[in-house]
Amino acid sequence: MTQDRINLDTDTILEKDAHLIQSFADLNFLKDKSARTVISKADGTRVWDHDGNELIDGIGGLWCVNIGHRRQEVISAINEQLNTLDYYSTFYNFTHPTAVQLAEKLVSLAPANLTRVHFGNSGSVANDSAVRILHHYYNRIGKPQKKKILSRQGAYHGSTYLAMAMTTPAYSDGWDCARDLVTHLRCPHALREANGATEAEFLDLLMTEMRDKIEEVGSENIAAFIAEPIMGAGGIIVAPEGYHKRAIELCRAYDIKYISDEVVTAFGRLGHMFASEDVFGIQPDMITTAKGLTSGYQPLSATLFTDEIYDVIAGEGAMFLHGMTYSGHPAASAAALANIKVLETEQIPQRVRTSGKRFENNLRALSDLDLVGDVRGSHFMMGIEFVKDKATNESYPDAAKVGLRAARHCQARGLIARALGNILILSPTLVLTDEEIDDIARILRESIIATRADLNMEGF
Ligand SMILES: Cc1ncc(COP(=O)(O)O)c(C=O)c1O
Repeated sequence: MTQDRINLDTDTILEKDAHLIQSFADLNFLKDKSARTVISKADGTRVWDHDGNELIDGIGGLWCVNIGHRRQEVISAINEQLNTLDYYSTFYNFTHPTAVQLAEKLVSLAPANLTRVHFGNSGSVANDSAVRILHHYYNRIGKPQKKKILSRQGAYHGSTYLAMAMTTPAYSDGWDCARDLVTHLRCPHALREANGATEAEFLDLLMTEMRDKIEEVGSENIAAFIAEPIMGAGGIIVAPEGYHKRAIELCRAYDIKYISDEVVTAFGRLGHMFASEDVFGIQPDMITTAKGLTSGYQPLSATLFTDEIYDVIAGEGAMFLHGMTYSGHPAASAAALANIKVLETEQIPQRVRTSGKRFENNLRALSDLDLVGDVRGSHFMMGIEFVKDKATNESYPDAAKVGLRAARHCQARGLIARALGNILILSPTLVLTDEEIDDIARILRESIIATRADLNMEGF
């Protein structure tokens, strides 16, 4: 069957692809078959399109293939698990050894205050679960009005009705979501929001605004603040130094729970298994994670929380009315355990502290190019923002589609990068060699120069 599909030529696959709806895509634009790419094979740091073109996977699938593609250790573990216990749920009074082992492992890796784990099957669901659990917790402690969530402009927390509400409104233009539940704070994006303020001044401003917003909404109405350690799909935005520590202090002062969305940042991307404490020095009340948890080999997410929350929701008379059929799926749990073993055995997070820095520094060196207004991020989570005028940071109009042009030039030169408006995002596998890292920088440089030439020619 697999062979039958592979034997189809690219054109036939793209014809049949009319039935498949791509996510977060301009479907009208995709009616043009040449706008789509068929990926048919993967290995290590690379993928191949259906015509056999080899491409460095500069976006790690979707920020998730941390240990690289087609690792036999993970594939065998999934296979072995399916041959032992293909499926059983973690509903009612049931449990199974693989999910138990994974929960224990995650607790050992997470900040010490996080001792309980609920599994889901996507980052969106992990975030929905965090909010549902907190809402129930507040109902049980007699604070049923504490329901609102503080999020930030630029955030991405997923695309369910609730997770999308916590995501930046730009992502739900023309779509509905549970908007009334969420209040968005200013994006901590120095380039666009700081107006010449120093980093410390900008941080003070953000914290003053956060306090003001809490006062305005009323802390008695606010359940939680949710934040990615570094914003990803909002354009790789790194908040000013000390932001998360100050934010969690405010949360503590106002009795608001802090949810750290580590769907992208965990499992080595920033050089640690979890970034909240090891990179940003905070112990959140909840951590949500997915993606690198299985390196994408199986869909799985986890919502980790404290004993303090657990004791309330597991008290007498309580009922945990939440869960998905595939919560803690045996094959997904086995994939996660094998993935974590690879990360640990090969010391991938530790290696990222060096290789990821090389990647970051190589990309920062692109700042000398005319088109490049900002290079930002950390380790293997980077963004390049293109500007029309470096002096004023004026952006190109949407019609110029600068990011898309740059991504196309990259792909023609053997690199997949993700365009997001005027930004190019790189979130590769974490196992790139130094040569590959240097190669990516070279391709980016050539592609950005070619993009600039296109824009000049077309009068943008
Ligand atoms: C920070 C963050 N949270 C949540 C999600 C949603 O995860 P999923 O697509 O698995 O639902 C994503 C996805 O990109 C993400 O980047």
